[in-house]
Amino acid sequence: MDKTEGSRTAVLVCQARAVAHGRLAPDRFADPTASALLRPDELAAVERVRSGRPPEGWGPRMEYEFLRATAEGLVPRTVAIDDAVRERTSPQVVILGAGLDGRAWRMPELAGAAVFEVDHPRSQEDKRQRAAGLSSPAGKVAFVPVDFTADRLDDSLKAAGHRADLPTTWIWEGVVPYLTRAEVAATVRDLAGASAPGSRLVVNYQSPSPAASLGRLLARAMRRLSRRPDPMAHEPWRSAWTPAAMRELLTGQGFAVVGDTDLLSLAGALALPVRSRRSLGSGRVLVADRRAG
Ligand SMILES: C[S@@+](CC[C@H](N)C(=O)[O-])C[C@H]1O[C@@H](n2cnc3c(N)ncnc32)[C@H](O)[C@@H]1O
Repeated sequence: MDKTEGSRTAVLVCQARAVAHGRLAPDRFADPTASALLRPDELAAVERVRSGRPPEGWGPRMEYEFLRATAEGLVPRTVAIDDAVRERTSPQVVILGAGLDGRAWRMPELAGAAVFEVDHPRSQEDKRQRAAGLSSPAGKVAFVPVDFTADRLDDSLKAAGHRADLPTTWIWEGVVPYLTRAEVAATVRDLAGASAPGSRLVVNYQSPSPAASLGRLLARAMRRLSRRPDPMAHEPWRSAWTPAAMRELLTGQGFAVVGDTDLLSLAGALALPVRSRRSLGSGRVLVADRRAG
């Protein structure tokens, strides 16, 4: 992550949701909070893509295409996670690596719930400033600074008022790839220890794909050549999980997997146009429920 500011990938995926809002699968996807959380220069890039008119010049065109492709992947992932959250409402919702996620402000299903936004301290400070003018239906929104590479998630949540004796819905979207396998396992151990029966974990992760990795390397090289700011520059991917390995990790911590679907299938079900099939094919959304006892 950038040494001085919050996560740039958090801004990128928020821009992608703003691009998609009202344009992609509008009967199933909506995020009016995305544009509200963006700064004017970030919104200008969104408006360029929403206009559908590619800009002149190689660098600006690269930026335009990257954001457009990211928007296509964000819609199935958001819809799948929202559906899983709505299906089982909990008195507590913890959003891990929240970035510029707008759920605490946009989901009426969270009315009355205690929402805990967990994120790296630098990203969270940035989010707090951006979200200052928004009002939430939740009973409370608590900001909990946690660096998954250094801090204990369970201790930080407890100090913020999270109760391990009440069910929790955990949302872990777009974060697992940025952590090592050991950091992912430690986070699962901590959240499992704070998950009462009835809790649900919704996790988005990447499965290994040599073709998708090669595509990312090429895209990165092209972004470098274009000399435009690269949102991925300071946030390298560190782990990918096969569905079997992710299932084994969660099962070992007392969760039962009830669904695990790739984003390409989810996009197909939403009749979305897909240009980056390899990238969507390796992204997944898994839903797991805490086993009783
Ligand atoms: C791609 S963004 C996803 C944000 C949000 N979940 C979403 O989908 O819109 C990645 C997020 O992971 C967080 N993150 C990455 N490494 C982290 C770490 N070591 N500790 C805490 N958060 C981290 C970043 O701060 C950022 O908010």
